[in-house]
Amino acid sequence: MTADLSLIRSSFAAVQPHGSQVTAYFYDHLFAHHPGVRPLFATHLDEQRDRLWAALGALVVNLENTDTLTGMLQNLGRRHAGYGALAEHYPAVGASLIATLRHYAGDAWTPAAEESWAAVYDVISSTMIEAGKAASN
Ligand code: HEM
Repeated sequence: MTADLSLIRSSFAAVQPHGSQVTAYFYDHLFAHHPGVRPLFATHLDEQRDRLWAALGALVVNLENTDTLTGMLQNLGRRHAGYGALAEHYPAVGASLIATLRHYAGDAWTPAAEESWAAVYDVISSTMIEAGKAASN
């Protein structure tokens, strides 16, 4: 992974003080750019909203614990196959995730931070997609 993990951590930490605005921005961005994924989500997203960000936080903490990280991602990927998440949805979610981080990370957002997030999301999504495919076979 060509990611600088200290940049991942510092940019993620810079976003945290913005609280629930962050997840609201993320879902607004996702549904505005990819309205086709809206029906996969429950009508009332409120309780659900913060779970994605909490999961990201847990992933960020475990970036160097490869076995733990892989296990978490495989479980998430299997559950997502059940939610109807398809491989082609992952780039859409990744783009909204990066747009959200860029919006809230302030000075902590740099080209190197963006590159690092792109590399990390690549690992996250490919592990989830593989586990999801294996689960639906
Ligand atoms: C970084 C990648 C992602 C992370 C960390 C993530 C995290 C989560 C978490 C923690 C939940 C709560 C339920 C659970 O733990 O199983 C969830 C639910 C969900 N996610 Fe994701 N997710 C990701 C990518 C995606 C993608 C690509 C899609 C495809 C559209 C998606 C669609 C959903 C749906 C439909 C639900 C259920 C929501 C509901 O019940 O209304 N997620 N996600």
